[in-house]
Amino acid sequence: MTSYKELGLVNTREMFKKAVAGGYAIPAFNFNTLEQMQAIVQAAVETKSPVIMQVSKGARNYANGTILRYMAQGAVEYAKELGCPEPQIVLHLDHGDSFELCKDCIDNGFSSVMFDGSALPYEENIRITKQVVEYAHAHDVTVEAELGVLAGVEDEVASEVSHYTKPEEVIDFSTRSGCDSLAISIGTSHGAYKFTPEQCTRDPKTGKLVPPPLAFDILHQIEEKLPGFPIVLHGSSSVPQDEVDTINAYGGKLPDAVGIPEEQLREASKSAVCKINIDSDSRLAMTAAIRKYLADNPGHFDPRQYLKPARENMKKMYIHKIVDVLGSNDKL
Ligand code: G3H
Ligand code: 13P
Ligand code: ZN
Repeated sequence: MTSYKELGLVNTREMFKKAVAGGYAIPAFNFNTLEQMQAIVQAAVETKSPVIMQVSKGARNYANGTILRYMAQGAVEYAKELGCPEPQIVLHLDHGDSFELCKDCIDNGFSSVMFDGSALPYEENIRITKQVVEYAHAHDVTVEAELGVLAGVEDEVASEVSHYTKPEEVIDFSTRSGCDSLAISIGTSHGAYKFTPEQCTRDPKTGKLVPPPLAFDILHQIEEKLPGFPIVLHGSSSVPQDEVDTINAYGGKLPDAVGIPEEQLREASKSAVCKINIDSDSRLAMTAAIRKYLADNPGHFDPRQYLKPARENMKKMYIHKIVDVLGSNDKL
């Protein structure tokens, strides 16, 4: 058993309380490479921001859970070395799909876990979330749950059969499960193709796709039901068009990739939404920089040469999110 406290990590409890009260959101960046980790820590230290470093089941399979745990410990030490005496870094399991996986992470240094039972029947979601909460709280680890299903790219966002979180369920769900935060579905989704072109309109000036707005009415109803309760938004990459254009200009093929407009995330950050998940934008920043570098320098083959601009581009993106979108800067 390795407690996250031995690694210098923190859970989300105080962090979320301050974020809800302060009208900002904590960035939750997915990571599975050294360069992502370095860029996240540099960005968090330079902006004096708390940060959640999160790991999916797929990331654990890719990078190895033990290595990722030591990377998180390394992140804390690296932040101190960069001049931040008391970094606020959470190591979080993203989309845990079983009690056993959540337990394994808690036993191995995670300070926060998500049990994602959103695809399960309601009572089953409560039952397993509660089981995770009981184990997690015994170790002072915080738990994120999910209610409502994030739209897939095939789903009709305007469909009458909505997968949005039902506000009438949130009090019962959070009370009975005992979760510390709740991920909700209000129109965000995972990946770089969040909406089909048919679901969007086109900006007549730029020809770019404009997605339909998030369901802020549902968010506000949830806030009324659960005043001050920490709310989480998944699928919140904005899919920057300049990165998509760079990728496409240098041999990539990402037609009609579209994300969540940043002004909507800015608005959400001011509400009870206190954790915003971003993964795809990091992937895009990294890939755009690598594609451009290799096209411009066809004779280079040392990974450090192309991973350095990739790391710089991710860091720029992380800083932009922290300062210009979520508002979590200057909070340490
Ligand atoms: O929500 C999903 C995250 O973007 C992680 O994706 O399962 O491909 O690591 P992944
Ligand atoms: P994006 O694909 O929009 O970056 O969402 C990431 C996420 O929700 C991780 O849980
Ligand atoms: Zn997610």
